[in-house]
Amino acid sequence: MTGSPRIRVLFDEATIAKRIEELAQEIARLKPENLLVVAVLKGSFMFAADLIRALHRASLEPQVEFVHLSSYLDGTVSTGQVAILRDVESEVRGRDILLVDDILESGRTVTFAKDLLMARGAKRVLTTVLLEKPGKRAVDIQAEFVGFTCPDLFVVGYGMDVAHSYRQLPFVGVVDHANHDPDLFDRA
Ligand code: IMP
Ligand code: MG
Repeated sequence: MTGSPRIRVLFDEATIAKRIEELAQEIARLKPENLLVVAVLKGSFMFAADLIRALHRASLEPQVEFVHLSSYLDGTVSTGQVAILRDVESEVRGRDILLVDDILESGRTVTFAKDLLMARGAKRVLTTVLLEKPGKRAVDIQAEFVGFTCPDLFVVGYGMDVAHSYRQLPFVGVVDHANHDPDLFDRA
């Protein structure tokens, strides 16, 4: 195939921006204390950057941290194990944490991060994801805040990639005629 594949837009820039303002208002209503945002790299970086600014507009003053997690793949199948490639540096003990990820799919990534933060003494871990794929959960977990319900398609853009491409897109879309070999997908 020659040329760049076409991307079909699922959630456009304006729709994402509007929803993020709503999420920030919902989060602010819970009156989090000593709030630490923990963004899960890499896929959540754009969502986190926009959400953090929306939290500021909602009069919150969060600190911001990053954890880089990666799901181990055994061939084409997730083994269910998650590795920490980069850990948070800040103290989480006694704090309200807002865990931010791109997609809630099997739930393993978010569950791993949440358990880690709770084990370190976080007072409360609230989870927000931009997208949730229903019916895909391997672990019984729900996010407190969800941007959008996502169809069961491999999506890219707005921070999310396939084989390291498309993270720069300002919208969420689906690659037409993508090579759906899961070995190519960066699960971080
Ligand atoms: P989990 O299955 O809930 O642990 O999600 C694992 C990770 O896989 C997510 O945080 C995403 O980074 C990635 N992921 C899952 N589905 C997609 C997708 O459709 N596009 C891009 N990345 C995805
Ligand atoms: Mg991820």
